[in-house]
Amino acid sequence: MQNNTRHFAVIGVLVVIFTFVVYWVLDGVLQFPMPASLQAASIDTMIQGHLWLIAFLFSLVIVFMVYALFLFRRRPGDESEGEYFHGNTTLEILWTVVPMVLIIGFGYWATVDLAALTKRQDNEVIVNAEGFQWGWNFSLPNSDLVTQELVLPVGSAIRMDMTSKDVLHNFWVPEFRVKQDIVPGRTTYLRFTPTVEGEYTLICSELCGLNHTGMIATVRVVPPEEFAAFWDQDVQTASSK
Ligand code: CUA
Repeated sequence: MQNNTRHFAVIGVLVVIFTFVVYWVLDGVLQFPMPASLQAASIDTMIQGHLWLIAFLFSLVIVFMVYALFLFRRRPGDESEGEYFHGNTTLEILWTVVPMVLIIGFGYWATVDLAALTKRQDNEVIVNAEGFQWGWNFSLPNSDLVTQELVLPVGSAIRMDMTSKDVLHNFWVPEFRVKQDIVPGRTTYLRFTPTVEGEYTLICSELCGLNHTGMIATVRVVPPEEFAAFWDQDVQTASSK
């Protein structure tokens, strides 16, 4: 028993060290683009949480396995049988209860976050998006004008009202983090608040046919005055045609 305690102490320390190493590697490999929406922070925090959990569980399994394989390997000349034992109730309770608590905890976290991310905001700017094979049309509810680039005001809560002309598509701007399927025959909604002016790329993130990878559009996040001017100007141009 004395010996077991020593083994567990060593494994415990190794698991902690290995967890930090695996997290560091994952965090280095999975470089995300700059966050550019109000919603990005909570999503990034949740991904960090998952990376820590993944690093810990991976380390727990691998350290135990490699430690046992190495330390309890058969020595030359050892022909004895392994020790026989039947079950371990404490361990079985532990490996049932701990993952259950973790899953419920992460589930609760995700539910609270999702409710906050999809909640109706005050003074939402509504923009229509229509996806089709293979491109995008954007318009404002009170305008006949249709554009192929998406212009959005910085700092305003946006609600995208999205429809499809043909098959499933998906609205995804990596810098905004949030994404939403576009489903033929119904309207789906996506809420986000752009926080950084600049140019981004909207990517269709649902396999939708031959030119799926080409189904992209430019997104420009501009000051509110520029947003108003863009639509006014273009509305006039459109009506004068
Ligand atoms: Cu539309 Cu992929």
